[in-house]
Amino acid sequence: METKQESRISPRNGRRVILFPLPFQGHINPMLQLGSILYSKGFSITIIHTKFNSPNSCNYPHFDFHSISDGLTDPSAEDSTTILITLNAKCMVPFRNCLAKLVSNTNNNNAQEDSVACLITDFLWQFTHVADEFKLPTIILQTHSVSGYLCIAAYPFLRDKGYVPIQDPQSESPVIEYPPLRVKDIPKLETRYPEYNYPLVSAIVNNIKASSGMIWNTFEELEQAALSTLPEEYFGIPVFPIGPFHKYFPASSSSLLSQDQSSISWLDKQAPKSVIYVSFGSVAAINETEFLEIAWGLANSRVPFLWVVRPGLVDGVEWLEALPRGYLEMADGRGYIVQWAPQQQVLAHPAVGGFLTHSGWNSTLESICEGVPMICQPCLADQMVNARYVSHVWRVGLHLEGKLEKKEIETAIRRLMVEAEGQEMRERITCLKKNVDACLRQGGSSHQALGRLVDHILSF
Ligand code: UDX
Repeated sequence: METKQESRISPRNGRRVILFPLPFQGHINPMLQLGSILYSKGFSITIIHTKFNSPNSCNYPHFDFHSISDGLTDPSAEDSTTILITLNAKCMVPFRNCLAKLVSNTNNNNAQEDSVACLITDFLWQFTHVADEFKLPTIILQTHSVSGYLCIAAYPFLRDKGYVPIQDPQSESPVIEYPPLRVKDIPKLETRYPEYNYPLVSAIVNNIKASSGMIWNTFEELEQAALSTLPEEYFGIPVFPIGPFHKYFPASSSSLLSQDQSSISWLDKQAPKSVIYVSFGSVAAINETEFLEIAWGLANSRVPFLWVVRPGLVDGVEWLEALPRGYLEMADGRGYIVQWAPQQQVLAHPAVGGFLTHSGWNSTLESICEGVPMICQPCLADQMVNARYVSHVWRVGLHLEGKLEKKEIETAIRRLMVEAEGQEMRERITCLKKNVDACLRQGGSSHQALGRLVDHILSF
């Protein structure tokens, strides 16, 4: 008997798509979700991945996985920017060799093999134009929001206008060309390697210009204004807003860390919409003082909380050592702490009423899809832009702006979870959630864009 899942799978179409995710959780998730979407449309899927943060192939028995060396010696000792720089410097040759092998299998007219239609690559890989050598079209997957990307792509312009590097006295001023952003909302690219920023931005834009299309994990009804500034043929290439990816299938299985299912049994015991879920994603780090401010803000709010404290979240600390002994008892047993949660299931749980988040794009979309209003504490990159849109465009959350302090956190949690203001945000985000359901339905905007994407790939 056919299962519900199988009945949504199209017959095989004899074409193969090669996907090359960037090896960070927030990039692996959307790429593997995209693989599942394209598989359901009849394409065979090959994943080229680095040894660092390699996805668990057992969860995708129908995909073909190829590992390449990445030149990282001790990634645990490096920050994410250093890892990104090293990967872009060291992966080009192994990637080209791997691609050559995969393409030559097809060219040798091996009747067993599906012909390779194209490469789909993360927008932060800088060397994937090597696919040109094999006459392989490349499509870029954007893992940021459209607004976040447009702001990063505008970096040279923002520099020429004097907005960046950001100077403290002007940080509250509006960026007139990009409303409603203020100078302090411009993505933070101020890393230890400032000399790397502009070459990175220009490589991103050049790769897009040379590509055969761009796929977005967003949907028209959410980012209509930003998408309308991006012509249907941006740089002469077609754009496909087909998101939110994770709603095409049940919860993803591309997590690099084991997801603690006890989070769900704990939520099962809580009242509807009573719990604030707290997570800062897979990359952001905070210091011990900030960690303790969050801990006391949560405890003092008197609202039940599910808190993801990822090992490595707090600089120089392994896990919970910085918490005072008996902290959870001092919070009257209202709290539950895990290292990593099944986030999509958590956000979909009826007990969850709010999300204190770092405003990564995946987390923001996942929260919108479940109608959960947010408290935004952005830390880096595109997260400031996402937070500004959540608080000032969609008006479905609060933006913590100053130093991370317990009183601010306590007040924000009560505003979101208890007061009328939070209820209004919940109503607005429930409307956005309805738009999600509509865009994925037959004839909806994302459904149509996916149809165009499938035809586009089949035309190669
Ligand atoms: C980063 C950037 O912040 C983000 O904006 C960019 O688009 C990708 O890189 P990250 O810090 O990983 O991403 O955050 P986010 O984009 O929110 O992705 C985190 C993913 O991990 C989400 O899909 C979330 O569901 C998952 N997650 C998070 C878990 O499965 N369990 C957890 O406990 C926390």
